[in-house]
Amino acid sequence: GRGKNRPARGLRFTPVAPNTADAVTVPEGYAQNVVIRWGDPILRGAPAFDPDRQSAKAQAGQFGYNNDYLTLLPLPGERGRQVLFANHEYTDEQLMFPGYDEDDPTREQVEIAWAAHGLSVVVVQEERRTGRLTAVPRHHLNRRFTATSEFRLTGPAAGSELLRTSADRTGRKVLGTLNNCAGGTTPWGTALSAEENFNQYFAHADAVADPDTRARLKRYGMTGGASDRKWERFDDRFDLSKEPNEANRFGWVVEVDPYDPHSVPRKRTALGRFKHEAAQPRLTADGRPVVYMGDDERFDYFYKFVSSRRMMRGGSRRAREHNLTLLDEGTLYVAKLTGDSAADQTFGAGDLPSDGEFDGTGRWIPLATGDVSHVPGMTAEEVYVFTRLAADKVGATKMDRPEDVEPSPRTGRVYVALTNNSRRGTDGNPLADEANPRNANKHGHVLELAERRSDPAADTFAWRLFLVCGDPEDPATYFAGFPKDRVSPISCPDNLAFDTFGNLWISTDGNALGSHDGLFGVATTGERRGEVRQFLTVPTGAETCGPIVQDRRVLVAVQHPGEVDGASYEQPASAWPDGPGRAVRPSVVAVWRRDGRDIGV
Ligand code: FEO
Ligand code: CA
Ligand code: CA
Ligand code: CA
Repeated sequence: GRGKNRPARGLRFTPVAPNTADAVTVPEGYAQNVVIRWGDPILRGAPAFDPDRQSAKAQAGQFGYNNDYLTLLPLPGERGRQVLFANHEYTDEQLMFPGYDEDDPTREQVEIAWAAHGLSVVVVQEERRTGRLTAVPRHHLNRRFTATSEFRLTGPAAGSELLRTSADRTGRKVLGTLNNCAGGTTPWGTALSAEENFNQYFAHADAVADPDTRARLKRYGMTGGASDRKWERFDDRFDLSKEPNEANRFGWVVEVDPYDPHSVPRKRTALGRFKHEAAQPRLTADGRPVVYMGDDERFDYFYKFVSSRRMMRGGSRRAREHNLTLLDEGTLYVAKLTGDSAADQTFGAGDLPSDGEFDGTGRWIPLATGDVSHVPGMTAEEVYVFTRLAADKVGATKMDRPEDVEPSPRTGRVYVALTNNSRRGTDGNPLADEANPRNANKHGHVLELAERRSDPAADTFAWRLFLVCGDPEDPATYFAGFPKDRVSPISCPDNLAFDTFGNLWISTDGNALGSHDGLFGVATTGERRGEVRQFLTVPTGAETCGPIVQDRRVLVAVQHPGEVDGASYEQPASAWPDGPGRAVRPSVVAVWRRDGRDIGV
């Protein structure tokens, strides 16, 4: 029929061409607005953003810096409103502060940076007849959580000796959350946020005396002296030679209940500790949540957690309290993937596998269940706190930087973004294999995983590569078999989302093809499976994060605009979003159709 020669429903827009415009570029016929920017006041009493009069107190009531993950939750009873949850991965002090001296930051600058990290909950309002979305400041549900807010550790490792510090003898109370990257949304209406590159905040690992402690810190990327931001000068807990366990209290998945304005967020130890990129749950047939998670590091692993408890339906207080315990008890697994092509085939030359497809089978290796370790030589507490070391021991598959993960609500297949790995096959590092098929992998790939019998709790799975990214003219690329002359070039997939039609949307970080980063949609089923179409591009220096695709609008987090080598507050590389002479501000953007119809139909 007529549909045959048209892109998949939901992706019927004129693709945006690769470009380097200092703007958010959207398809013809689409419009956009900035929903909220770094520094916009969200709490009662917070002042308007003023780059010349920043203070930690002001920032603690304003939207944070470098928005990354986004989710929208319904707000029944308030017409046209939803609850936006956003996280704030890290700070770019050179771009934030006039006259910043990286060798000599002031206490005020450091405290502003603490307040600019963390999480935001902010109610948003849609405009009738358009897709425009605006923030509702001072709403009673609005929250800020910063690098100094109180968080609670829960689950099997909470209270462990490994999590105790001189400020917290209980091992259960942590101040702050750091480097939150992607996240997830639970079916019981909470937001998950993943602590990623927390190592960068901790100094003086080189001065830690105990060799075992030093080895563990090293496996998590902590080897050096002073940290880049010098926070250790202002709070001893960032100095590992004084507080070696403080770093163990970061690298977790955080759960936030945005509907309870007094809730204390939880760090869920049952989900393990690593450079968590994301945490996306789904339910088994009997109602138990399963959470998929990547560890974003070259040659690190892909995990899942299977809860032993069933979700309770309904909005009762009892159900809500019960559901807030679901992520505290279950089994943590790591993935091992085996290719099925000829055993002697080597990859990396851009060849297709001998059987014509990058595919194979996989196994979920259990690491710990509650207080029981499945890893020889490690206690359960050690497995949770030093999960990378546990996965090393059981021989999990070393992946090309597992980023976001998203199960398709239509097919149940799970998609994993593997963003790139420039070191694959170099300097004695592991060589390309069927699941990570390119040495010096510059452009990344997207893996598609099908649990056995579609059971999210299964212990085996089948997998195949869905996309091998890059310039379509490069023979090493693969778009699920779709003709390469009809796809948008895509490089460095990072965050993933599904629309209601079952199309996968992919945002990129670090496009290595010369264009700015962007957002792409691709059909995962039917005749157009693999047809990648670019929906937008972001300004100079920015990464595209947090995509949400609703019927009427697409939301993206424009992270670190203007982050270009040598750029500073005085010498900005971008004039986005407010034009020349104004501070560059990471912001959330909504995109909608001018004619009021749904996205891509
Ligand atoms: Fe913060 Fe893996 O991106
Ligand atoms: Ca990021
Ligand atoms: Ca194969
Ligand atoms: Ca990311």
